[in-house]
Amino acid sequence: MGIEVDTLGESEMERLLAASREAYEHSYSPYSKFRVGAAVLVADGRVFSGANVENASYGLTVCAERVAIFSAVAAGVTRLVALAVSMGSPTKTVGEQMPCGACRQVMTEFMPGDAVILLGGQATCRLEELLPRPFVLSGL
Ligand code: THU
Repeated sequence: MGIEVDTLGESEMERLLAASREAYEHSYSPYSKFRVGAAVLVADGRVFSGANVENASYGLTVCAERVAIFSAVAAGVTRLVALAVSMGSPTKTVGEQMPCGACRQVMTEFMPGDAVILLGGQATCRLEELLPRPFVLSGL
């Protein structure tokens, strides 16, 4: 039991957003100067967070959402209920805070289609709206 998608309350959503904002502060983004923080919520109330981590070899950069999700998975959690992102430069807030396609696919691995995605506190949607037809391995 615990927190399910249907029982997700305002206080949990606010807590998740706050965790993503805190992680935003730890973004390592000297190249793009675009900070991203993310946080995921587990049914038992635990929150795992992450920030984007860039590299001088640009392609090695990892998005905040994946850092947060992988941190949860590394702690033994493979079912997540909600995810929040906070993104933008410190001086300019972005209107639309949309996770990239790769992160949407990774979310699909560990979150149900109706999982709640908090897009920077200004908008909310369901994972299945972000990625309606994900890749799934079939016929193995
Ligand atoms: N970034 C994320 O952390 N998450 C996303 O969903 C989109 C992009 C990061 C990667 C890079 O460090 C910076 O934002 C600019 O692309």
